[in-house]
Amino acid sequence: MAQLKVLIVGGGIGGPSLAYWLSRIGANITLIERSPRMRASGQQVDLRAQGIPMMKKMGIEAAVREVTVRESGTQFIDRNGQTKAFFPANQSGSGKQSITSEYEIMRGDLVKILYSLTENRKNVQHLFDTTVASFTQDDESDPNGKVHVEFQDGRKEDFDLVVGADGTGSRTRRMMLGPDAPDPRHPMGGWIGYFSVASKPEDSDRGTFCLLPGTHLSRTIGTRKDCPELTRVLMLMRGKDASLEAAYKSGRLAELKTAWADIYQDGGWECERFTEALRHAPEADDLYCTPVVEVRLPKGSWSKGRVVLIGDAAHSSTADGFGTTWGMIGSYVLAGEIASLYGKGGQYSTAAVVEGLRNYEKNEWFTEWFESILTPRSKLGISIMHTFAAVAAYLRLDQRIGFDSKTSKWLLPEYPELEREQT
Ligand SMILES: Cc1cc2nc3c(=O)[nH]c(=O)nc-3n(C[C@H](O)[C@H](O)[C@H](O)COP(=O)(O)OP(=O)(O)OC[C@H]3O[C@@H](n4cnc5c(N)ncnc54)[C@H](O)[C@@H]3O)c2cc1C
Ligand SMILES: *[C@@H]1O[C@H](CO)[C@@H](O)[C@H](O)[C@H]1NC(C)=O
Ligand SMILES: *[C@@H]1O[C@H](CO)[C@@H](O)[C@H](O)[C@H]1NC(C)=O
Repeated sequence: MAQLKVLIVGGGIGGPSLAYWLSRIGANITLIERSPRMRASGQQVDLRAQGIPMMKKMGIEAAVREVTVRESGTQFIDRNGQTKAFFPANQSGSGKQSITSEYEIMRGDLVKILYSLTENRKNVQHLFDTTVASFTQDDESDPNGKVHVEFQDGRKEDFDLVVGADGTGSRTRRMMLGPDAPDPRHPMGGWIGYFSVASKPEDSDRGTFCLLPGTHLSRTIGTRKDCPELTRVLMLMRGKDASLEAAYKSGRLAELKTAWADIYQDGGWECERFTEALRHAPEADDLYCTPVVEVRLPKGSWSKGRVVLIGDAAHSSTADGFGTTWGMIGSYVLAGEIASLYGKGGQYSTAAVVEGLRNYEKNEWFTEWFESILTPRSKLGISIMHTFAAVAAYLRLDQRIGFDSKTSKWLLPEYPELEREQT
């Protein structure tokens, strides 16, 4: 019996989610990650709107609940540390969510939970320190067509389907689109940085944000707490900074730390303590930094033949807070579209795979949902909050403090073929 052979490139959120869904229809899956080990870093992410039924469908609600971060709310402070506004958390689980959602979870914990879904499945192999050097593919009309992959270590293997789940900077996307295609990443003129510092007893258990005055840069710094030993610092910056750009290009951690520390050095509040830690303390070695970009691919280009993109690789918008939910839902829709064409008894035709990939984008789940969250009322919400615009966008304040959105009315598509276990 022919078994669908799948290569998934990228072990973040989308990759392991897709591995789970495809493993249920009996595919043979290789999930590769470029890092030498699971990349379980990152700060708080949240599961919102359809992310909640999605997580329930995956059977991970209990595991997620066990590691949710209990934040007592969100506050805005001034440069002297005085609270200016406070929004308490709402853990009722229904109705309008507050800024702090019911399912705040550290990104690393979610990555671990998603990996654990397939760790013991015989038809899923997890490889680290592995990436793709190049691939070619047979014509999509070829009924026995394959994607011919060469890994970075020179090993070659053929797959029926290759999935790029390798994030905003996706190399799979670059190889799929070809060297002449324009870069679909659009810089939105801002940067995000996260790092950890040793905590002090007086650090607040509230998400705390401080907007710093500035002449050419708009800077926000904040803290969140998920564990007793560490306080997580996050920085949101709008504007151009040549040193930061150069440091990001160089990829060197020490330069990145210096660039960020220089920007926040004189900010007031706890900036001196945080930038000192950023320059010298080992806790800050987890600094993660990204420019705020949006990936906008032309319609119909999420896939080409037997290669397809999911998650940030297909549709990243760095700062909107929905990346995790989208990564999980996209994986489910892709697997569902393939499963619904998958032949009886686990047989499949490669034509069905190609069609499944097209249907995944045509399904319009993304457009419908995107349009449903951008209601005029939520835009109004953002403008009302314009003093805190950068933070508001980051936290999706508009949705969280009561501007009711239609988002919750969009229902996840149902795929009965995925509900039945076939292995
Ligand atoms: C280390 C890290 C920390 C993050 N922290 C936050 C955060 O704190 N808050 C937040 O909202 N979002 C964060 N994000 C982004 C967030 O995870 C994504 O927006 C969202 O979850 C969509 O997930 P994804 O699976 O599409 O991409 P990602 O989660 O970015 O995962 C992509 C994975 O692919 C791997 N990869 C990249 N290139 C290759 C390659 N060529 N070959 C093999 N593997 C490759 C990466 O190492 C990564 O593990 C972070 C992402 C990363 C990678
Ligand atoms: C939390 O949400 C519920 C349901 O919408 C509401 O009844 C309750 O008043 C909210 N609590 C807070 C503290 O906002
Ligand atoms: C999956 O494919 C790999 C080769 O890519 C093979 O070694 C392995 O035995 C296959 N696993 C199953 C369960 O068929």
